[in-house]
Amino acid sequence: MSIISNCTATAIKDAAAALIKGDLVALPTETVYGLGADATNKDAIERIYKVKGRPADHPLIVHISSLANLDKWARDIPEYAIELARTFWPGPMTLILPRTDIAKDFVTGGQDNVGIRVPSHIVALELLKVFESLGGLGVAAPSANRFGAVSPTTARAVVIELVDFLSESDQILDGGDCLIGVESTIINCTQDKPSILRPGAITKEMIENTLGITIDLNASNSESNRIKAAGLLESHYAPNAKVILNNYPSKGDGFIAMASIPTPHGSIRLASPTNLEEFAHILYSALRKADSMQINKVYVTPPVGNGLALAIVDRLTKASTKNIN
Ligand code: TXA
Ligand code: MG
Repeated sequence: MSIISNCTATAIKDAAAALIKGDLVALPTETVYGLGADATNKDAIERIYKVKGRPADHPLIVHISSLANLDKWARDIPEYAIELARTFWPGPMTLILPRTDIAKDFVTGGQDNVGIRVPSHIVALELLKVFESLGGLGVAAPSANRFGAVSPTTARAVVIELVDFLSESDQILDGGDCLIGVESTIINCTQDKPSILRPGAITKEMIENTLGITIDLNASNSESNRIKAAGLLESHYAPNAKVILNNYPSKGDGFIAMASIPTPHGSIRLASPTNLEEFAHILYSALRKADSMQINKVYVTPPVGNGLALAIVDRLTKASTKNIN
């Protein structure tokens, strides 16, 4: 495995060629780091599942360079999905749409729909453009962590997660810290009305303002909606440390809260964000820091409110669920 710390045009060309060849390339996006492979290459995709230790029926998001390529992967695209794509792509939003024949079972987990995203990180976008210029159609990229673990927001975190599982010819592109820090908003676009399957930086309010309608959060909970998403499992995004919400830490426990909340006596402050964007940005690195400091329990006071707060609360709730089971 090589770590590419300087993502020059030549380095990106090499990485695109590696993807075409069937190697894995971990890439920075504005949300979290992804573990990329040619989305049409069955062997390469099987390697993603193996490296992540992820069950084969959990679908992957296919990344493309532009809305113009969406109809290669998706059909029967509703007008509202086009409107969302025009407004928020490139950016932290994944659309779930009915698939074309190009989206095989091995990338969709056998479902009749496919998740598509155009990321805005300059390295990801350049890589996708060059990959497509070499004949590629899309790059499948789940978050570059072992299944159920915290998503990596730095190249170093990718190394820590995957060093034992990647092969010599695989690459990790270092594009710096991920700006947003939590995974993309996933929107189910297979019905008359969109619904949010996973909250993220493209918020319910932003979607509603764009489309002029009101939408449901977590409509996936309804029985009629059989969309399956691994991120919707109750336990996910969890560090080794126990995550405990809205409670009081003891001596030696980790503590994460907004800067306005003082550090309880004897606890170890892992992060003090001053706003929601900062909270999302530092959350995963703070949880990783707890593990690297071998802290056993992390107490978090989650932010309140709508917008990005919902994404942070969603991830923290899932991170803390591990402890109960
Ligand atoms: O921000 C992100 O979305 C990052 C970056 C790398 O793009 N990717 C990411 O991928 O978070 P992953 O695989 O860790 O999480 C994607 C979630 C999973 O819960 C998966 O089940 C769901 O999206 N998903 C993907 N395709 C789907 C589909 N066709 N139907 C329903 N859910 C889908
Ligand atoms: Mg993930």
